[in-house]
Amino acid sequence: MTTRSRRDRSARTISWPGLAAGIWPSTARPEPDGEISIGGVPVGELAARYGTPAYIVDEADVRQQCRMYRDTLPGAEVAYAGKAFLCRAMASWIDQEGLALDVCSAGELAVARSVSFPAERIVLHGNAKTPGDLQAAADYGVGRIVIDSAPEIVRLAVLARRGQRVLVRVTPGVDAHAHHAVATGVEDQKFGFSLSSGAAADAVRRVLAQPGLQLAGLHCHLGSQITQLPAFELAARRLIALMAAVHAEHGLTLPELNLGGGHAVPCVETDQAFDLTGFAERIRRVIRDECASFRLPVPRLTVEPGRAIISRAMVTLYRVLTVKHVAGVRTFVAVDGGMSDNPRPALYGARYCAHVTRRSAAPMGPVTVVGRHCEAGDVLARDVPLPEDTRPGDLLVVPGTGAYNHSMASNYNLVGRPPVVAVRDGSARLLLRRETQSDLLRREVGL
Ligand code: LLP
Repeated sequence: MTTRSRRDRSARTISWPGLAAGIWPSTARPEPDGEISIGGVPVGELAARYGTPAYIVDEADVRQQCRMYRDTLPGAEVAYAGKAFLCRAMASWIDQEGLALDVCSAGELAVARSVSFPAERIVLHGNAKTPGDLQAAADYGVGRIVIDSAPEIVRLAVLARRGQRVLVRVTPGVDAHAHHAVATGVEDQKFGFSLSSGAAADAVRRVLAQPGLQLAGLHCHLGSQITQLPAFELAARRLIALMAAVHAEHGLTLPELNLGGGHAVPCVETDQAFDLTGFAERIRRVIRDECASFRLPVPRLTVEPGRAIISRAMVTLYRVLTVKHVAGVRTFVAVDGGMSDNPRPALYGARYCAHVTRRSAAPMGPVTVVGRHCEAGDVLARDVPLPEDTRPGDLLVVPGTGAYNHSMASNYNLVGRPPVVAVRDGSARLLLRRETQSDLLRREVGL
């Protein structure tokens, strides 16, 4: 059977958790035998070919999200936040789709550079950029560097090419109700210059005192998994008021307003999605009205979505290793990965759903999917419905694992990081290979 006819037939029987909520890659389809295909390739085939655990990325979904952002925000700059997931292929797709790229280290920049990502479309971030980060950015001639501290202004003035465009990162004092580990719009966190204390206006003065630097605009980033549009509106208002103050004090019109990323993405059915269309309308209106009231030209808007571009496009495949029924407590389904490939439940209490790819007539019961690591907090999905006959050898898929899963993966317990496999139009290719024991041993240079 061809991939297309298999897809057409199965599209009628879509039924697994989270599909309607937009948690799965857009090309995910149920197969007749309970299997799932992504990008036209059954996940069982992927598991057989590449082993488990493995991250699978749906190239079409990534491109679709990029186009959706560009179409919904015409005229705005969309800079993908590479910290969510970056490899050479991802950087190329982002480039081909015409997005800009936000990098936050010389390492991320090296990946971008290795595929000749256009330097003028790169933005460098970081609250404490190392001399190496700044030098790499200056060498490549990145389009903008977001200044995050006073010492950095001086360091950059020495290193950067003449005319280096910079933004000043402002802490707008906006609580967007993000998890405390990723709340960056409030005063009590390490990023940016406080607006209310006058530190941001002072940073602008210091930048303007450096003839080699060209101040292009202001930046803020409120946090992650934000659904509340009023938080973005308030931040935009506050930053435009500062732009007006800069204009009044220095006679300078700032052409760029960067409102960062943080657009929420659902990982379980009850999660709220981000209203990008509403965001586009409301932010455009706020910017237009505020600028009119200050008689300022409208700056170009930049947004920096990371999660919203890549989260849904990736799933993680695992093999079930053990099923343990703890009488009167719960059932643990343990898989061959865990917190080394997905630390987000342990770090942020993040929730995921799971699906076993074997057709089963057994009733669904709540189980907790756990990993193979040596701690009780190594949980991948708590209290999720799986068939009660889930057993060792089953293939288990966790969707919505594109954002910050591979990029925050570790070698905890000296487990190698999983491969990343891209699927598209019925074929698969390896982007990043599995990390092997010899990779891990290669770092050992002393005894
Ligand atoms: N722009 C800046 C300046 C950022 O710091 C970030 C994320 C983004 C854009 C993209 O945010 P996003 O759209 O992906 O939410 N490890 C955490 C997330 C940390 C986000 C750090 N900064 C997690 O796994 O949830």
